[in-house]
Amino acid sequence: MEYDFDRIVERRGTGSFKWDTNQERFGRDDLIPFWVADMDFASPQPVTEAMKRRLEHPVYGYSARDDDYFSAVTGWLSSRHNWQVKREWLAFSPPGVIQAIHILINILTRPGDSVVVQTPAYSPLLNVVTGNGRVLVKNSLKESGGRYMIDFDDLEEKIDSAVSPSLLLFCSPHNPSGRVWDREELVRLSAICSKRDIFVISDEIHADFVFPGKSHLPYGSLSDEALQKSITCISASKTFNISGLQLATLVIADAEIRERYEKAVDVAQLNLDNIFGEVALKAAYTECEEWLDHLLVYLKGNLDMLTAFISEHLPAVKVNRPEGTYLVWLDFRALGLSSAEINRLLVERAGVALYEGREFGEDRDGFFRMNIACPRPLLKEGLTRIGEALSGYL
Ligand SMILES: Cc1ncc(COP(=O)(O)O)c(C=O)c1O
Repeated sequence: MEYDFDRIVERRGTGSFKWDTNQERFGRDDLIPFWVADMDFASPQPVTEAMKRRLEHPVYGYSARDDDYFSAVTGWLSSRHNWQVKREWLAFSPPGVIQAIHILINILTRPGDSVVVQTPAYSPLLNVVTGNGRVLVKNSLKESGGRYMIDFDDLEEKIDSAVSPSLLLFCSPHNPSGRVWDREELVRLSAICSKRDIFVISDEIHADFVFPGKSHLPYGSLSDEALQKSITCISASKTFNISGLQLATLVIADAEIRERYEKAVDVAQLNLDNIFGEVALKAAYTECEEWLDHLLVYLKGNLDMLTAFISEHLPAVKVNRPEGTYLVWLDFRALGLSSAEINRLLVERAGVALYEGREFGEDRDGFFRMNIACPRPLLKEGLTRIGEALSGYL
């Protein structure tokens, strides 16, 4: 089948977080947005068709997950990630991954406990720790030759000197660095956590976006020990561009923790999925694998184009080439300008919006994150404008 990822879908005026909030966020509503992580592609057709069919039935009352829902999730984890997950391990979070982590932090830790997060990090992963009155312990990733690595020595030291450390919020593949962790790294991480009795929540929302040459290894698939001492969060939301439908799935093998999670979800009455989220997930996980394969080829093309453009027109900007995700971590430090100044040039001169490095919880002055999941003509337009806006500074 042919897929037209070059097609520009007008998203302005659709209540889009990415396209319709730029005036309040950046002071201009005519920017090309490359900040928040959703894609500018139409969702796959089987997803739209399934929702249309459901829409035809005029009753939209409370919905319940059926057998097909469970088998769609376990089937996807098996076929795509070679992970055999039992149906009873699955738990859900209708709103999303972060809301699930918010509940889990309250189940797995007590106020004042330390929670480790590797930085730079997707900021809600930091806020969910501090916002719940837990102590945030940052294990900063170290960069080596444009590749971010886990600083294991720092991790051990930080855990050993923290006040009641009990939890690590892990991001795999990693946003914003784009790292797809190798088996050796995961095994070493798991050994460190196991030795110190640290439970792991592995946020694998970007698991389906992996570039050729790498493969994503679910943390819970490493070993029985890793499985029992972790919760893995996955979602069809990023993969099939359905984040507005709000859904997420958790793999919780420990029966007692799962029961406590389900009780908390029940108390908050968060156990019922959005009817369209449910329909979309089933279609996505069972009918759209080929669409995803084509999308990944297209995203690789976008990444190659960005890399070639930057090396030709913006040689002072360093591209941290991602191994997964559709997010590119760019280093503008060689320009010798502050982040605020670069941001001003990007917004006012180039008319584009990127995420500043400081959004990721650390002093990453001079770094920006760019979302490249958009039709290539749009990406090209954005890059051309960035090239022109910064030309006097190279
Ligand atoms: C690492 C990571 N976790 C979670 C989320 C958000 O997930 P949800 O919308 O399901 O809360 C994002 C979105 O960008 C993300 O990058």
